[in-house]
Amino acid sequence: MANDLLKASHEFREQLLAWYETHHRKLPWRAPPGETADPYHVWLSEVMLQQTTVKTVIPYFQGFLRRWPTLEALALSEREEILSAWAGLGYYRRAMNLHACARTVMEDYNGTFPNSEQELLKLPGIGPYTAAAIAAIAFSRPANVIDGNIERVIARYCLINTPLPAAKAEIARRASKLAPTQSAQRPGDYAQALMDLGAMICTPKAPSCGRCPVQRSCSAFAQGAAEKLPLRLKKPVKPLRRGAAFLIYRGDSLLLRRRPEQGLLAGMMEVPGTGWTSEPPSKQALLAAAPITAKFAKLRGLVRHTFTHFELELTVYRTQLPGDYDEPITQRDPRLKWVAKHELPRQALPSVMRKVIAHDQ
Ligand code: ADE
Repeated sequence: MANDLLKASHEFREQLLAWYETHHRKLPWRAPPGETADPYHVWLSEVMLQQTTVKTVIPYFQGFLRRWPTLEALALSEREEILSAWAGLGYYRRAMNLHACARTVMEDYNGTFPNSEQELLKLPGIGPYTAAAIAAIAFSRPANVIDGNIERVIARYCLINTPLPAAKAEIARRASKLAPTQSAQRPGDYAQALMDLGAMICTPKAPSCGRCPVQRSCSAFAQGAAEKLPLRLKKPVKPLRRGAAFLIYRGDSLLLRRRPEQGLLAGMMEVPGTGWTSEPPSKQALLAAAPITAKFAKLRGLVRHTFTHFELELTVYRTQLPGDYDEPITQRDPRLKWVAKHELPRQALPSVMRKVIAHDQ
């Protein structure tokens, strides 16, 4: 029995790796099958790919490498520069951690990434998934790499009928039985082969089972159940928060404010506004939050944005001050600054704030 299982997992890996040789996606952070990629490239791509799609990440990854060809260059740069290059990728804590991690590896590890999951886990921004992915892809260390794509492939292949997220433990257990146990079994290619299978064949809707290299041993295929797996408990509805934002132009410059160093979008720039609460802001809250006293026009419509834990609706107010307006508001509040319109693309503005600015045009 145990031997049968070993044989089955061996066959699974062989079929998958053979398929990967010819069908892998060519991605700029990857090495050709059979070779290991540069740990800096692997780490950078994996951090970018946390919660973001491959298609979105590619130009950012290339832009970062052009600007910071080495880990050392990245560690030496200013956090501000990294944040603004990150703008649009979302989840900005990842960019802060990216910088902190680059510095830690330079200072505490002589500029060389550690190659074990255990050591990688100690670094800022590296959780269990990312540690496993880097260990496997950059160092060919056996690891049980499980992202969303792989979760789906395993749930189907092993016919796991428990709904997610409860099924995670069972999926991890079944995945570990299939995964490589030695470097010679190419753990990095194996993990990426599963990712590619999930992205191109074993897709969430209408999977292409006819082209699947492991179709013959897939339990979900045998039962005609591939498309309905994995089952998923309904996600709880996100609470709604509301607030207001003030677009204040002085000539051609916009007033921006730095967010606090802690909490959501920490250290990023924003259009000044009220707090975000379940009730719409009261008149008093609006008056208290406006950085200047002026006649504001309320713009039509709302800016909507989805965060991990809530939905946000912002009302936008706008005012235009003369170019020679000289109230020293940026001295009274050092978090405020005037930014020329053409400088806005280089600011560390999160997507929600880019939407607020665009709402005006
Ligand atoms: N998603 C996360 N890591 C990835 C990788 N190395 N290749 C493709 N998709 C990924």
